[in-house]
Amino acid sequence: MIILAIETSCDETGVAITRNGRDVLANEIFSQADLHALYGGVVPEIASRNHITVLTKLVESALEKANLSKRDLDAVAVTYAPGLIGALLVGVNFAKSFAYALGIPLIPVHHIRGHIAANYIAYPELKPPFLCLVVSGGHSLLVDVRDYTDMQVIGTTRDDAAGECFDKVARVLGLGYPGGKALDDLAQGGDDKAYMLPRSSIEGSPLDMSFSGLKTAVLNLIHNAEQKGDTVDPAGLAASFAAAVSDTLVPRTMQAARELGYENIAIAGGVAANSRIRHDLELAAKAGNYTLYLPPLSLCGDNAAMIACEAFYEPKPAPFESLDLNAYATMSL
Ligand code: KG4
Ligand code: ZN
Repeated sequence: MIILAIETSCDETGVAITRNGRDVLANEIFSQADLHALYGGVVPEIASRNHITVLTKLVESALEKANLSKRDLDAVAVTYAPGLIGALLVGVNFAKSFAYALGIPLIPVHHIRGHIAANYIAYPELKPPFLCLVVSGGHSLLVDVRDYTDMQVIGTTRDDAAGECFDKVARVLGLGYPGGKALDDLAQGGDDKAYMLPRSSIEGSPLDMSFSGLKTAVLNLIHNAEQKGDTVDPAGLAASFAAAVSDTLVPRTMQAARELGYENIAIAGGVAANSRIRHDLELAAKAGNYTLYLPPLSLCGDNAAMIACEAFYEPKPAPFESLDLNAYATMSL
C-alpha cells in the first residue's frame, strides 16, 4: 500500500510517501525555522501562510523522488491533531482536496502517534507492545504502546514540556530559536556539575514530571548574575541543565518499563535528538538489560514519513468517507 502523508502541525511542512508503512520512498521537509527565528518563536499565522505556499511543490517533488505518479497512490494521510490550529487546517484541507480529486481514502493521523511510529521506520523489527518516551516541543509523555493504535499515557509533565524548556533556556542564553540543538552543542564542552539545578518530583505520581521549576531556576540564575555583573559559564550551565532534564526523564522511563514488564523501550520527538538524554538512556537500558530503540536524528523532529508510517496501521476510511474531517489543537492520544 502506497500512502502519501502531509504534516503541517507546526513550522515544518512535510510531505512523504511510504510503501507498506515502513519503506520510505520520499520524505520532503521544508523547515520555516529561519522565518520564525526573527521573532524568537513560531508565529502561527506565518506558519500557516508558508505551509500554503510550499505544499504543492513538496507533493510534486515527493512524487518525483519516489518515481511515482498521483495515480499510484492508494491513500492520503494527514496530521489532524494536535498542533497550531491554522497550520493543521492548511494540511487537512489540502489533503482532503487531494484525496477527493483522486477518489482515494483520507487517513487522519495523531501527530504524537506519528512521532512514535518514527521508530518503526528506523527499526523494521520493532512491534508493540513497548514503552515510548515522547519528548517534543509541546509534549513530555511516557506512553504504553500496547498496539499500533492502542496507547495509554502513563506519565506526563504537569507544566512545561522538556522541549519548551530547552527553547526558553537557549533563548535567554542568546542561542536563537529553536534552541534545543544549539544548547545541546554548547553543553558538549561544559561541566555538568558546574551548577546545582533542581530535579523535581510529583508526590504520589512518580511517573509524572515537572520542568517549570528547573526552567525558573536557570532563568533566575542568569538574571541574578546579570544584575550583579557576574558572568555565567554558558557551557557549564547548558551541560548542568541537560543533565537535570535527563535525570528527570531517564529514571522515570526505567521505572515505567519495569512496572509494565516490557523489555523494549523507544524514544520519540524532537528532544529525542538530545545527546545527553540518548547517552543516559543507553547506559540505563544496558544496565537493566532492556533493548533501546533510538531513532536517527533525522526522524526525531517533525517529518511526514512518520505520519505516513503510522497511517498504514490506522483504520482506513472508504474513499470520500472522511471528507468532513476537522483539525484539533489538542487531542488525547
Ligand atoms: O518534535 P518536534 O520537532 O516538534 C514538536 O512536535 O514540538 O520537537 C521540537 C523540539 C524543540 O523544542 C527543539 O528545541 C527540540 O525539539 N530539540 C532539541 C534538540 N533538537 C531539537 N532539544 C534538545 N536537544 C536537541 N538536540
Ligand atoms: Zn512533533
